[in-house]
Amino acid sequence: MSDTGSGEVVPFPGGSGAPRPRVLAIANQKGGVGKTTTAINLGTALAATGEEVLVIDLDPQGNASTGLGIDHKSRDVSTYDVLTGEAPLRGVVRSTAVPRLAIAPSTLDLAGLELEIGQERDRAFRLRNAVAELNADPTEPPYTYVLVDCPPSLNLLTINAMTAADAILVPLQCEFFALEGLSQLLKTVDQVKTTLNPDLTIHGIVLTMYDARNNLSGQVVADVREFMGDKVYETVIPRNVRVSEAPSYGKPVLVYDLKCAGSEAYLRLATEVIQREKLLTERLAG
Ligand SMILES: Nc1ncnc2c1ncn2[C@@H]1O[C@H](COP(=O)(O)OP(=O)(O)O)[C@@H](O)[C@H]1O
Ligand SMILES: [Mg+2]
Repeated sequence: MSDTGSGEVVPFPGGSGAPRPRVLAIANQKGGVGKTTTAINLGTALAATGEEVLVIDLDPQGNASTGLGIDHKSRDVSTYDVLTGEAPLRGVVRSTAVPRLAIAPSTLDLAGLELEIGQERDRAFRLRNAVAELNADPTEPPYTYVLVDCPPSLNLLTINAMTAADAILVPLQCEFFALEGLSQLLKTVDQVKTTLNPDLTIHGIVLTMYDARNNLSGQVVADVREFMGDKVYETVIPRNVRVSEAPSYGKPVLVYDLKCAGSEAYLRLATEVIQREKLLTERLAG
């Protein structure tokens, strides 16, 4: 990892007592594995249970923004402005049709970020520092969860997400090459842990696009469970056409079709995430 930089951690404004959201980075350097779908629908499910959720779109493609109904033309300010230091995170947040779910949208400008800030000392800490200010205003309801939708790469954007995160959530598609690339991802997480963010952990691995009619899907689930043990969530997200239709309506599948198998799976995943959160935060507390 060449671009982690050596910026200093700017401490969270603990003195002001600003409540800290839990920050989960949704990462896998492979494209098309379900990162964005998971960010949108886990975010929606968490919001449905009463959490105040912010999805941060860190992919220049901006699919999470589109999938939550923010059209390209209306993205005057974006996560690009946050990472270049031109806007505070709260300043780019947009509300969505889902109560308690907001999004910080992205634009293609993000693709040029590395060229612009790649030499700055604090380049890996831009998102972390922005998140530290997120709940600073006591007149705004504090976010309790931040989900960062990462691009399909282990570049400076993903490094920013991992540096800002408490934990990583990894979607793995149930396909033949599912495990390929996972060790590289885990290695990057370890490097970030040693250099930039000592508290980082793997929250869990979620198997996506499971197809019960396909023997291979079952084999992949078994292999990944054998390799990664209890890091793998019980919940497996099925391949479900409603899940893939929903983004074209600018809606989470939970809003598009609450009763479909995909929605039910994401609700179960949210329950598991909250259970693991309790264990993780209890462990941290003592
Ligand atoms: N459970 C699912 N069932 C059916 N299609 C899915 C499911 N999860 C994701 N997809 C579709 O697969 C494609 C890739 O998913 P996406 O979440 O965009 O992946 P990533 O963000 O990792 O690139 C999208 O077209 C999405 O709608
Ligand atoms: Mg994506």
